[in-house]
Amino acid sequence: MAQQEDLFKKVIAHCKEYGFVFPSSEIYDGLGAVYDYGQLGSELKNNIKRYWWEAMTLLAPNVVGIDSAIFMHPKIWKASGHVDAFNDPLIDNKDSKKRYRADVLIEDQLAKIEEKINKEVAKAAKKFGESFDEAQFRSTNGRVLEYQAKWEELHNRFAAAMNDTNLEELRQIILDYEIVCPISGTRNWTEVRQFNLMFATEMGSTADGAMKVYLRPETAQGIFVNFLNVQKTGRMKVPFGIAQIGKAFRNEIVARQFIFRMREFEQMEMQFFVRPGEELKWFDFWKDLRLRWHKALGLGDKKYRYHDHEKLAHYANAATDIEFEMPFGFKEVEGIHSRTDFDLKRHEEFSGKKMQYFDPELGESYVPYVIETSIGVDRMFLSLICGSYEEEALEGGDKRTVLRLPAALAPVKLAILPLVRKDGLDAKAQEIYDELKFDFNCQLDEKDSIGKRYRRQDAIGTPYCVTIDHQTMEDGTVTLRHRDTMQQERVAISELSRVLYEATSLKSLLRKI
Ligand code: GAP
Repeated sequence: MAQQEDLFKKVIAHCKEYGFVFPSSEIYDGLGAVYDYGQLGSELKNNIKRYWWEAMTLLAPNVVGIDSAIFMHPKIWKASGHVDAFNDPLIDNKDSKKRYRADVLIEDQLAKIEEKINKEVAKAAKKFGESFDEAQFRSTNGRVLEYQAKWEELHNRFAAAMNDTNLEELRQIILDYEIVCPISGTRNWTEVRQFNLMFATEMGSTADGAMKVYLRPETAQGIFVNFLNVQKTGRMKVPFGIAQIGKAFRNEIVARQFIFRMREFEQMEMQFFVRPGEELKWFDFWKDLRLRWHKALGLGDKKYRYHDHEKLAHYANAATDIEFEMPFGFKEVEGIHSRTDFDLKRHEEFSGKKMQYFDPELGESYVPYVIETSIGVDRMFLSLICGSYEEEALEGGDKRTVLRLPAALAPVKLAILPLVRKDGLDAKAQEIYDELKFDFNCQLDEKDSIGKRYRRQDAIGTPYCVTIDHQTMEDGTVTLRHRDTMQQERVAISELSRVLYEATSLKSLLRKI
């Protein structure tokens, strides 16, 4: 665990050192849970978004994209339930004066029990070696079963309290399990209160009678309220989907784990409108397709798992998360929800406008049911960095830090390195750069030894480097170095474009889904 924490710290430092992610307003000591993406981070983020957008709008069945405004009519958030129910349960420690989310304190307690179970399993695995049967050990070992029973008891109490929004019970759980404030170490807790997560501001001058508006906490509502606009102008037939990428804002109380939980973040959401009664078939379809999108990145299938929701929101009839193994455990990166006709019906009710679709095949009108896929760009970014960061020991006691990013998403595709800055090698490097720059993000680097330049490119995840040497001037070939294997081969300059396209184009990645 300490090792994983250490790894996470290194990842955060690496992101800053190489221009991926900076704390926002850093010269003013930062702004809590707000981050800026640097020169490489914004390239990577754009590539993630392009991968998602093209998978949705080019490959998925009948999906089109929109870009709706961040400000929306405030009634929308009443209709969606966010004004009344988008709350977190808060608790303060009277000694440290620190504020916590009551549910997160309890989740941390659950994680501690899980950790104990995992320690027992790891110990036994070490002891028994090859012959170790993990499933059998988990189902028979006395200590594991004891921890498991404790976990279930706490989990059931917690789930019931959350489901019933029972704030007193949440507090009672914190007291019963003797959960202490990590700062003061005491159990001197206040009552639990609800806190709305939406940021509000005012539109128009006060003299005109300003209107309270919200910064959207999700992009999905911009899709729901445009459902008929898109359906009619695009002559879309159910089933069809609307995709959108955009900023969302939540006044998160427990903002931690770097860009995992931010106050300003970006979502990629898609609402798929289907005939009532067909939603579970489409839920399975999207559940499968979205996991394939993740796995195509090649970070390792074992790093992903589904987490099906046992307790569903009152309007949902199925929901699952796709979780990724971060250094701090398996965490939600994407949610897939079958939201029935809840949102469209609520907008019908609150706007007084019909949100129905006339199905020409059935000869009837209905409010479509909706399957939603919702993924955070920043969490996806974090999963990519964590999943590809490696400190590799090399022969001869040397070490390198390498980001094994999927080539199609890497910020820089090719580094062009003249061996020396003379004999025409530098001019040749510039010539290659000028030819390839239209299709690929290339970096021309002439400074320091070749070894140092390779290390710099490894650290930012550049999949290929070419070295221009004296032989290049004679036969028009360069040395092509592969990031992951560090192997080198001689390639004709005229071949570079084709080799790079095959290995790094988005198309090559999209084909793997
Ligand atoms: N429209 C449904 C919706 O917004 P959600 O589970 O609240 O569902 C969807 O959010 C995704 O948005 C999450 O799986 C996560 O990737 C991302 N997300 C949510 N809150 C976030 C935050 N504070 N910081 C970063 N990403 C966040």
